Amino acid sequence: MAAKIGRNDPCWCGSGRKYKACHEEFDRKIETIKNQKHKVPTHDMIKTPEQVAMIKESAKVNVECLDVVADKIAIGMSTEDINDIINEVCKKYGAIPAPLNYEGFPKSVCTSINDAVCHGIPSKDEILCDGDIINVDCSTILNGYFSDSSRMFMLGNVTEADKKLVQTVKECVELGLEQVKPWGFLGDMGQAVHDHAKANGYSVVREIGGHGVGVEFHEEPWVSYCTRRGTDILMAPGMMFTIEPMVNAGSHEIFIDEDNNWTVYTEDGSNSAQWEIQVLVTEDGHEVISW
Ligand code: MF3
Ligand code: CO
Repeated sequence: MAAKIGRNDPCWCGSGRKYKACHEEFDRKIETIKNQKHKVPTHDMIKTPEQVAMIKESAKVNVECLDVVADKIAIGMSTEDINDIINEVCKKYGAIPAPLNYEGFPKSVCTSINDAVCHGIPSKDEILCDGDIINVDCSTILNGYFSDSSRMFMLGNVTEADKKLVQTVKECVELGLEQVKPWGFLGDMGQAVHDHAKANGYSVVREIGGHGVGVEFHEEPWVSYCTRRGTDILMAPGMMFTIEPMVNAGSHEIFIDEDNNWTVYTEDGSNSAQWEIQVLVTEDGHEVISW
């Protein structure tokens, strides 16, 4: 915890209210749970209402990006065409696609087809084919605030197996979301995601997960979907993170493309699906910020 604040001092959250009338009880509650040997959030993981409002504006652009992709995506298009859509919508609002130049990522969105797990790089040479399943992972910076979500799209005649994979991973995210509430643990969410994937015969990628988001692109905590109920960090009001499990039809093992050092594929060539939502922990549950 930060240095001791007087009860009549302004609260650390920036509300302008006295500490005793604002987060004093919150801090005491967290201290108790920390003393029970649980991992607990630090103050910088708690968003202020002002920050939440700014992040929601960013998320509006992010959701519109994906809505336009949903509207236009079709067999015969290239993944570069999807990249163009993202750039166009961002430009309209003076927003910046967060992936562009992020640690050297060369494009504005990630497009991951079939056995690509994540971080696929859009290209004019990559054409969407009948039967493809694709994840479009979109992240937006607006006025310095970050939003991040992804959706799956199915093109034409998709196999029953792939339809089930895509649908099941969506359910994983929904079941995980149900577990997001204050004073629970992140592992409650993680286990709900994992159990549903496993019950359907799928595996969950271990090495790559979700993250805190909003003021930065990737913040603490790191979010796993291979955790158990009652473990991992405490969830407290004001925390914001992504639920974005990558689920493989076959083995959980993955490798990174040696040519571009970005695109992640399943080791066994089985297909993979991912949905991503950005979630805020509220006083009485959760609010979905981007989807
Ligand atoms: N939404 C992805 C994530 O949360 C985006 C990665 S952007 C990239 O990690 F540049 F790293 F590919
Ligand atoms: Co993300």
